[in-house]
Amino acid sequence: MNQKTNISRRRFVGGFAAAAAYLSLRPERGAWAQTTPVVVSEPADTYDSLVKLCYNENPYGPPESVVQAMTRALKYANRYGYPDGNITVKIARHHGVKPENVVLGSGSTEILEIVADAFLQDRKKVIGADPTFHSVFEFATGQKARSIKLPLLPDFRQDIPAMIRTAKENSSDVGFIYICNPNNPTGAIVSKQEIKQLLDGIPENIPVLMDEAYHHFVDDPNYATAMSHVLEGRPVIVARTFSKIAALAGMRLGYGIAPAGLIARMRPFAGSMTINVLAKWAGVAALKDTASMERVRNDILRQRKQTIADLTELGFSVIPSQGNFFMVNIRRNVVSVIQAFRQRGILVGRPFPPMLEHLRVSVGTADEMDRFMKAFKEIVPNAAK
Ligand SMILES: Cc1ncc(COP(=O)(O)O)c(C=O)c1O
Repeated sequence: MNQKTNISRRRFVGGFAAAAAYLSLRPERGAWAQTTPVVVSEPADTYDSLVKLCYNENPYGPPESVVQAMTRALKYANRYGYPDGNITVKIARHHGVKPENVVLGSGSTEILEIVADAFLQDRKKVIGADPTFHSVFEFATGQKARSIKLPLLPDFRQDIPAMIRTAKENSSDVGFIYICNPNNPTGAIVSKQEIKQLLDGIPENIPVLMDEAYHHFVDDPNYATAMSHVLEGRPVIVARTFSKIAALAGMRLGYGIAPAGLIARMRPFAGSMTINVLAKWAGVAALKDTASMERVRNDILRQRKQTIADLTELGFSVIPSQGNFFMVNIRRNVVSVIQAFRQRGILVGRPFPPMLEHLRVSVGTADEMDRFMKAFKEIVPNAAK
């Protein structure tokens, strides 16, 4: 078995690698590569001055309780065998499961990689939507596995009947199905009814990876986390992250929750030392500080609603979003528009083929969204009323 014993293979691939390459000066693949901003290699003071609406990050930063927990944990920086705040047990309790149902990752990106490594052996196939958070497809390529990418429906939802059909047609070859819910980059959800339809419709041994990175920003009553299906014992893996609601993207902490049998298959592929002491203590504190998370959620939802209303008022259609980002149809290719935003110190988007006229914008603070709207009116033709 091709187990993950060498953590040097752990690399920041997928969406981030594409974006990072796109943001750096290195020559890159697609035509869109030359468009923008240098962030990764920017000096810190330049970076700090930019309005960052391109990575769906949390603009508020971690709350004081989490900063204090990390500060206290600094005294273990020189240790291997430090107390870790019992992070795995705390996550398990948070979801009403046992530690054997939890695997930690250096961000949920690592969970996606572990799932690909565990379930795409022997060139199995992964089924997912297109576009979606494509790291999972990049990990599949790394495994020499094939990705079956199913186009979104005209209303930008994921095509669940097509997924069921494809899973049945390829039954013995499918390693797992990937559902990003809400989906990045569209912000559209798969409803709880559709999730049930999917789980009931596919061959029952096929695992489904539910990426719930944006779970906390949903207010649509038709959505539900797939956690209940894990508790039922279905072959479901829920991936969660501390990068979004808990503002810990730079600290790298995520986890997967699944029936113990699936976790046991994943665990050999998990890096043994990929998560650092500050991230673990930050995670413990973040789980406890529900009031801060609620504040972030309310602020993001308010800004999301307001900005979408402003753009709609200007005559632009916006895909209804349940994430901390949205896509606005600017009716022209996004590449030069992204560049024009960059010239004004605002980072947005990147192209998401084939949706090349849809600009993805992360939801920032009230000030940041004001700056975004002001620039939008200057940049996008017919935007100024
Ligand atoms: C849908 C989705 N899943 C997973 C991730 C990875 O997040 P992280 O590795 O920071 O937990 C992202 C990051 O933007 C994402 O959009």
